Amino acid sequence: MKNRHKQIQDWYKTHGRHNLPWRTTTNPYHIYLSEIMLQQTQVSTVLERYYFPFLKKFPTLQALGEAPLDDVLKMWEGLGYYNRAKNLHKTAQILIQEGQTHGSAPTLPQDIDELIKLPGIGKNTAHAVATFAFKKPVPIMEANIKRILCRLYALTTPTDKELWSIAYELVDKRNPFDYNQAMMDIGSLVCTSKNPACARCPLQEICQGKEEPTRYPTKKKRLVPTREQHIMLTVYNEKLSMVQRDGKFLHGLWGFPSTEVPLCASEYIGEVTHTYTHFKLRCKVYLYDAVDKKEAYYFTPKEIHKLAISKVDEKILKLYLDTM
Ligand code: ADE
Repeated sequence: MKNRHKQIQDWYKTHGRHNLPWRTTTNPYHIYLSEIMLQQTQVSTVLERYYFPFLKKFPTLQALGEAPLDDVLKMWEGLGYYNRAKNLHKTAQILIQEGQTHGSAPTLPQDIDELIKLPGIGKNTAHAVATFAFKKPVPIMEANIKRILCRLYALTTPTDKELWSIAYELVDKRNPFDYNQAMMDIGSLVCTSKNPACARCPLQEICQGKEEPTRYPTKKKRLVPTREQHIMLTVYNEKLSMVQRDGKFLHGLWGFPSTEVPLCASEYIGEVTHTYTHFKLRCKVYLYDAVDKKEAYYFTPKEIHKLAISKVDEKILKLYLDTM
């Protein structure tokens, strides 16, 4: 075994997070689900609120694909990036169909090229499923690992192609599962963005960036624009009007309608903000007492709690309830 692999494996035995439920299962669906949830969400959030309830509700790919999308979105509520839930659902449906063609239960393919063809599975997720579910000798490439590689080789602005090429050279082909889990743990517990603990790092001997680790990679500052919206809470018989979104963003979720200009007779009740990856949303919220039932769908706050709604709409509902 290469010395660096031994050091990584030894470190993982003592310090790794072995109890994470997606590391103690061999069920490819469970592993795939965890990777999708973890794409944009912290381990603690996934673990405490989403992973187990989702699997309880949809214990198999079959159950997931056969469920209505609304139910899947409801289990995803608050996790954000709802395309992830829609793609999970679509992928389950595709795999059910393929299973039917072959007369077998739906399963994920083992091949990276096949995995990448499925909705919502990009290059990194395909590699993660291949190595964690099927023990393939391939690396993974999420943010923590990129940071480690940049520091190891003192790279300030590497291309993705360069990083993948280095990662393929570095992967421990004899035990890729533990190696990849270990690299992720080193990234989140030792080789952290700020104040990395180089003295505790199993890779310190070969690291070219340890003199000034925070120089790697060079941070690109992202300036996000602010978008403003007027939200009209139309109240009729103590129920609120809602619409089911059909644009690309938040598609399928229920929400409060926005208007170009607030209605004359409406009352301003406050504003809520929410920051997404690419923009900040500021919603000015108005209340309007309808004399007749113009809109199609009205719900009581209790009924709204049963629908899948976004974080912003949750904040708007809270503002409304606090105002009452
Ligand atoms: N993020 C993505 N995949 C992960 C895993 N297997 N363990 C911890 N964090 C992760």
